[in-house]
Amino acid sequence: MDSGTAYGRPQPSFDADLTQVGPGSPMGELLRRYWHPMGLAADASATPRRVRVLGEDLVLFRDAAGRPGLLYPRCAHRGTSLYYGRIEDRGIRCCYHGWLYDVTGHCLEQPCEPNGGERRGNVRQPWYPLEERFGLIFAYLGPPERKPALPRYDALEELDAGEFIDADDSSIGSGGPPIVPCNWLQHFENVMDPLHVPILHGSFSGPQFVAQMALMPAVSWETTGRGIRSVQIRKVEGGKTFRRITEAVLPTLRVVPSPRVGHFGRVESIGWVLPIDDTSFRIYVAGRVTEAGQLGRMRSKFNGKFWWELSAEEHRATPGDYEAQVGQGAITLHSEEHLRTSDKGVALLRRMFKAQLEVIAAGGDPVGVEADPTRALVRLEAGNYLDV
Ligand code: FES
Ligand SMILES: [Fe+2]
Repeated sequence: MDSGTAYGRPQPSFDADLTQVGPGSPMGELLRRYWHPMGLAADASATPRRVRVLGEDLVLFRDAAGRPGLLYPRCAHRGTSLYYGRIEDRGIRCCYHGWLYDVTGHCLEQPCEPNGGERRGNVRQPWYPLEERFGLIFAYLGPPERKPALPRYDALEELDAGEFIDADDSSIGSGGPPIVPCNWLQHFENVMDPLHVPILHGSFSGPQFVAQMALMPAVSWETTGRGIRSVQIRKVEGGKTFRRITEAVLPTLRVVPSPRVGHFGRVESIGWVLPIDDTSFRIYVAGRVTEAGQLGRMRSKFNGKFWWELSAEEHRATPGDYEAQVGQGAITLHSEEHLRTSDKGVALLRRMFKAQLEVIAAGGDPVGVEADPTRALVRLEAGNYLDV
């Protein structure tokens, strides 16, 4: 008898608590306790821009005084979209009846109303706070009374001679296009999956990076006060040890040194995985560079080509991170997984997220949340190091 055929297999399911990001969902509420980059500084401009963040549709703009604003798009009057609004000195004016809102949603003018709207103070367009840093715009979509300080990172604050900070919105590290059509956690937990590197990027489709990355490393993982850290040891030429440290910092920070290993040293950039909604994400990156365009050179190539230059057959024959992660489905089916020793980092990361869900359900603050801006400097350990 043939047993174990696909017939009659159990109905698959995914872990909604870990993956879904909308308002009111457990992970959605955890993610809303942190700042998230959702645009380059230039994305907030005199042209209103539609953005989608954690399953919410919003409008981003910059008033003529230079203040960025992020508003719920449906005008509080009768609901047309502020996407069609006009930017003025004091805010954005709705196209329909001209109500004017500032960047924190105050209604400043109602031109069709007697005396410019005597009760306009009763109206508040829903809005979110923004802060600009590292060339990025960060938004806080959580409870106002829990708003943390926007963290600083030594890797982006302490510059060597000739370095400056550049930002990128093309999802460097995704292995694909700027918007990736699968759940954000599939990508984020991949950060703690260094054993796929010698397979997917080393032998299967590669080498996509440099020769030493194709060697099978000895890997360890541990939970830190801010996320999960992995150390990957490879013996390289001359009896030296190549020690690579990567970090997944909660809730979405990829702290991954360049896999091209151009030089050894501390991590040069940080990537933030932004869940657009349950089934798509993008990545914003900020990093130390010495020339414009340098961040983009960390981007994966396949036989010398960028992802978007490949034919369908080349995508099939030389898959990268994009294919492997989107290949898991829109939201991977956790019920069908068989986690093994090499998945320890993935398991630790999920366990840490689950613990944080419990912390916030009990009324506490999750890891890494710091109210005092003078104490919000994070010292990262990630880097590529050569030990003699
Ligand atoms: S719908 Fe916006 S002002 Fe009337
Ligand atoms: Fe990868």
